[in-house]
Amino acid sequence: MQTTQRRAQIRTFGRADVLRLAALSTKLGADTAAQWSDRFDRNDAVVVGAEIDGVVVGYAAGEIRRSFGRMEAAGWVDAFGVDLSQRGHGLGRQLAAALLDALRALGADHVFTLVPVHDRALGPFFRDLGFRDEALIALGRDL
Ligand SMILES: CC(C)(COP(=O)(O)OP(=O)(O)OC[C@H]1O[C@@H](n2cnc3c(N)ncnc32)[C@H](O)[C@@H]1OP(=O)(O)O)[C@@H](O)C(=O)NCCC(=O)NCCS
Repeated sequence: MQTTQRRAQIRTFGRADVLRLAALSTKLGADTAAQWSDRFDRNDAVVVGAEIDGVVVGYAAGEIRRSFGRMEAAGWVDAFGVDLSQRGHGLGRQLAAALLDALRALGADHVFTLVPVHDRALGPFFRDLGFRDEALIALGRDL
């Protein structure tokens, strides 16, 4: 367990990492390479990743958005994943710290995320990092 923590390298990822990011995220049922590519087209998108021997084993992504009438821009975390084989060793916590630092450096003084109500990992994970219920509800409809 300690070995994994020592060996994972965390750094900012860019367009050159799209295919390697997608190799992990599609395994987790999340973003495709095209979706990662779209993300890198957006201003203020931030992606940090963790790799071991060149293999991507975790990622965290977010961006800066004007949000809910707030005066200051806020950070949004909108993608997060750790390879199944690497979970439970603190990698998610390290990725979150790197992402939040990057969002802070871009001017965010608050951060939001949305997690599925019944997700047994993401909800407790973000709460452990200090995220709390907001005075907001998520609403949506088809267009
Ligand atoms: C949530 C997730 C990122 C956690 O990654 P991780 O590297 O295992 O997390 P860490 O080891 O850094 O855990 C940090 C804290 O989060 C909490 N936590 C993490 N996984 C948890 C789980 N399954 N249940 C409850 N709490 C959990 C714990 O409080 C933990 O602290 P502790 O180890 O001191 O108890 C990982 O389980 C994951 O990638 N899940 C799938 C996410 C997903 O579906 N992504 C695709 C859509 S975006």
